[in-house]
Formats: sequence, C-alpha cells, structure tokens
Amino acid sequence: MVRLQIALGVIITVVGLIVVAWIALNEDANLARRDEEILARRIERGAVLFEQNCYTCHGFSAQGVPGLGPPLNDREMLEQRVKEVGWPGSLYSYLVRTIAGGRIVSTRPEYLGGKASDPNAMAMPPWWEEYGGPLRKADVEDIALFLQNFEEFPPELLAEMATPTPEAGEQQPEEGGVDAVAVDLFTQLGCLGCHSLATVPGAVGTVGPPLDGLGERAASVIADPAYTGNATTPEEYIRESIVDPSAFVVAGYPDVMPKGFGDQLSEEQLNALVQFLLKQ
Ligand code: HEC
Ligand code: HEC
Repeated sequence: MVRLQIALGVIITVVGLIVVAWIALNEDANLARRDEEILARRIERGAVLFEQNCYTCHGFSAQGVPGLGPPLNDREMLEQRVKEVGWPGSLYSYLVRTIAGGRIVSTRPEYLGGKASDPNAMAMPPWWEEYGGPLRKADVEDIALFLQNFEEFPPELLAEMATPTPEAGEQQPEEGGVDAVAVDLFTQLGCLGCHSLATVPGAVGTVGPPLDGLGERAASVIADPAYTGNATTPEEYIRESIVDPSAFVVAGYPDVMPKGFGDQLSEEQLNALVQFLLKQ
C-alpha cells in the first residue's frame, strides 16, 4: 500500500514536471513567433514609409535613380559600402544613422545631379524629426529594418505596394480642410524631399526651388520673357509646374521633377495642392 502510494506520488510528480516543461517550451515558441510577427510588421511598415519618402531619389524598388540617389536594394552591396566608408558598427546602425541624419558631405558625387544649383546643400536630407526631418525615430528604424531585409520584399512586391497613394488625401477631407489635405499630399508624395516649405514640417529638400512665396513669385515668372510654358495666371503656373514640370524649368535647376503627378492625383487633390501653394 505504501509502495503504491510512493509510486503514485512519483508518477504524479513526473507528469506534473512534464506538463510544466511542455507549457514552458510552448511559451518560448509562442514568444519567438510573436517576435517574428512584430518584425514582419515593422518591415512592412518600413516598406510603406520608403515608398512614401524615398522613391523620388532612390526609385520605387530602391533600384536607384541616375544622378539623384544610389541603389539601396542589394544587401551585399550595402554591406560592402559599410566597409568602404569604414563604419565600425553593424549594417543596421549604418542605415539608421544615415537615414536619420542624412549626409552632409557627399561620398558619391555621381548622384549630386539634383544639387547642381547649390553645391553646399546636404547630399541627402535628414529624416529624423530631431534633425529637422519629417519622421519619428521608430519610422527611421523600420525603414532600416526594411532595407536590411530587402530580399524578403523583392522589387516586384514593392513596386506593387508603391502604386501611388491618391487615397491619402481622401481619408480626411473634413478634418482640417483643404490645407490639411494639401500638407498630407505634399508629405505623402515626397514633394518635401526635394522642396523646402516653411508651413510643412520636415520640408527641407534642396533639389528643387524653395516654395515659400511661390504665389507671389509665380506672377513675375510668367511675365518674364524667358518663361516657356502656357500659364497665364499664377494658379495655372503652379498647376502646370506639378502636372507638366518640363513646360518650364526654373533657371538654375535640373529638369528632374517626377513627370507622373498629373496621373497620380485626382482633380480634387491637385486643386488642394495648387490652392495651398498659391497661398505660400
Ligand atoms: C533628395 C534626394 C534623396 C531623398 C529624398 C532620399 N535620399 Fe538617400 N541618398 C541621396 C543621395 C544623393 C545619397 C548619396 C549621398 C552621398 O553622396 O554620399 C543618398 C544616400 C543614402 C544612403 C546611403 C547609401 C550608401 O551607399 O552609403 C541611404 C541608406 C539612404 N540614402 C537612404 C534613404 C532613405 C531611407 C530615404 C527616405 C527616408 C532617402 N534616402 C531619401 C538622396 C536622397
Ligand atoms: C525629385 C525631386 C522633386 C520632387 C519629388 C518634386 N519636385 Fe517640384 N521641382 C523639382 C525641381 C528640380 C524643380 C525646378 C525645375 C523645374 O521647374 O522643373 C521643381 C519645380 C517645382 C515647382 C515650380 C517652382 C517655382 O519656383 O517656380 C513647383 C510648384 C513644384 N516643383 C511643386 C512640387 C510638388 C507639389 C511636388 C510633389 C507633388 C514636387 N514638386 C515634387 C524637383 C522635385
């Protein structure tokens, strides 16, 4: 009887231990799975942020744009770059730092086509808000994770995700009116990467002309005999500048503004942008 009780006790203890171990192991697996899910979500977020902020100079698939920005879609190339520039840390830390602070001094002059007019402009604009950019720290980190794990998001997928975002403005037409829509578009379409504008947080780009005072300046531009476009009013001039940037190329700047905005924007969105810029 006593032996039976001992045996039973042992069995119960062993079964108990097995159950506890099983729960613990499963918990580990659960945690690991959750970590993976969080990482995947952050990479996806990074891809979307890249599509919104970086495509103008680095291309929709991060394949680079001649004269404007180097390719970033090749991890091996990026790892080589980190060694080339003598960065002592990891690829991730190199990416975070470069994206957050931009680059003051160019290391790749072949991509400075966009800055021909201002040799002192930053080689790449800063993106972290602390440094005057439009993004939060977590945004910068998610973009770095995306670039570091680019293989999982091949160009085809990104190109698909990168279909323009005209719904950006439609989401909140009532919330702050036309100006809020315009600021949103200015940010989402990457205008701020190339143009500075005091009324839009993070708009510090130097590839194109500053847009402050544009409403007033536009009248004298179209009155100038050097003007080659078809606009007869400041409003028409701004519209033309967005949908047909080559109609008139502002003196001292290269003809690199993307040509597809006319197709990406709805009439309402284009109007919101034009009215907003007219007031600057
Ligand atoms: C206005 C154009 C422009 C925009 C917009 C831009 N970049 Fe750049 N980027 C550049 C240029 C030019 C360089 C090369 C700088 C140099 O000469 O060293 C560069 C370099 C880089 C590098 C370093 C590459 C290397 O080989 O060392 C990274 C990483 C990078 N950009 C990421 C981004 C990300 C992420 C975004 C969006 C948040 C972005 N860039 C937006 C122009 C731009
Ligand atoms: C890749 C860089 C780039 C992007 C992105 C870009 N632009 Fe430009 N933009 C330029 C350059 C360069 C010029 C000057 C050359 C020209 O006139 O085409 C310019 C000119 C302009 C002008 C005429 C300015 C003047 O002083 O007469 C307006 C208005 C303008 N852009 C608005 C926009 C808006 C709005 C967006 C976003 C929807 C945008 N740009 C996106 C580079 C860019």
